[in-house]
Formats: sequence, C-alpha cells, structure tokens
Amino acid sequence: MNNSIPDQRDFWNRRHGNELEEDRDVNPFAILAEQSFQPHSKVLDLGCGRASDAVYFASKGHSVLATDFSETVIDHNKKTLSNSGVDFQVFDLRQSLPAGSESFDAVYSSLSLHYFGDKITKGIFSEIHRVLKTGATFAFSCKSVNDQHYGEGSEIEKNVFISPKGYLRHFFSESYVKELLADGFEIDLLEEVQEDYVGEDSHIIHCIARKL
Ligand SMILES: C[S@@+](CC[C@H](N)C(=O)[O-])C[C@H]1O[C@@H](n2cnc3c(N)ncnc32)[C@H](O)[C@@H]1O
Repeated sequence: MNNSIPDQRDFWNRRHGNELEEDRDVNPFAILAEQSFQPHSKVLDLGCGRASDAVYFASKGHSVLATDFSETVIDHNKKTLSNSGVDFQVFDLRQSLPAGSESFDAVYSSLSLHYFGDKITKGIFSEIHRVLKTGATFAFSCKSVNDQHYGEGSEIEKNVFISPKGYLRHFFSESYVKELLADGFEIDLLEEVQEDYVGEDSHIIHCIARKL
C-alpha cells in the first residue's frame, strides 16, 4: 500500500475502543452461512470484531478461531467471551494466514475483506483457498458498489476509496467477486441485499462458495 494511506489499525483500535459498550447482534448472514457448515466444523473467522458471529458458530458446536488485527477488540473479546469456547488471536489480514494448508472446514468473514486494494485482496483470497480443505465452505460479505458510501473521498484504485476521515474502503461488485473466486471455488450463493448494519442502511454482497 502506498505511504499516504493512514494507519488503518489505529483507526480500528480507536473505533472499537469507542464502541465496546454497545451490543452487537449476530449478523443474519452468519445464520445463513452456518447452514452450509458441516457439523462440528473447524471455522476461521477473519476480522471478527466483537465476535457475535464467532460465538454463534461455537454455540452450534463448531470449533472457532476468531481473528482481528485490532488488539483492542481481541483483548476485550478474550476478557468478556472467555466462556464462549472461541479462540481469539490478533492477526492482520495483510499477512499470510496463521494456519497450515487444508486445515479449516470453513472460512467466514463478515464485512472485513473490503479494506484492501486489488493486489492485497487477491493475495488474501489465495491464502483463504490455501487453508481450506477441498469441498470446504468460504462465506463472506462485503459492501457493494451500490452502498451509500460509494464514492466518498478520493478513489485510489477502481472502487477503492479513502474517506475524508482516512478510512479505506473497497466496494465489491458481483462481477469482481466472480473474478476473485474464478480460480478454485464454486459459488453456491451470490446475492446483494439491502439491510441494516450497526444502524446504517447498507448494500451488502453475500457470497457462499466451496473450494474445488
Ligand atoms: C465492519 S467490522 C466487521 C466486524 C464483524 N465481522 C462484524 O460483522 O460485525 C470490520 C473488522 O475488520 C477488522 N479489520 C480491518 N482491517 C483488518 C486487517 N488488515 N486485518 C484484520 N482485521 C481487519 C476491523 O478491526 C473490524 O473488526
């Protein structure tokens, strides 16, 4: 990434720090995605935030590793969700995934894969493919190009913007999702929904795919 992009970890540590007292519901997409997991799956949640989805997966009998690059939110989760059965780890998606090849039955990511330019995004998808077992599920959601925040700030790459507050956002189209998954995944569900996310009307792409 170029040097003029503000530090996104600082941004997220501050944002999480300001929101730790707010309740977080399970995302409807997590309930949908979980239906495609095999019983007792080993699940990796990327960019888990407050981890309500990870805790939901654990309550359904799955073994869950939930990761985020914000130490603030992972420390909070470790303290407040110690009885949830979820393992928490600080992990930056710009690094190689902290797991061996073919080690997970499912990778899940809600609204956390849309913070990178095209090159890094493609590297992340390649890493996800590596750590999934053959036939395993990859379920993720991302903000769509039809979202109300599309176009805010300066466009540094196609559909990638730095907001006036210094927040990097990559808006996905369905055709971009197909391009990202073309090599090695079969798509079972690809849809765009308009729904509330943390109190904001949002346009979100849902995708559930399987590793070929
Ligand atoms: C919109 S929140 C989504 C949180 C949660 N998955 C949910 O659906 O409520 C995006 C999350 O991605 C995390 N994140 C952003 N950039 C990241 C990176 N480079 N590596 C890991 N996590 C990152 C943020 O800390 C934040 O928790």
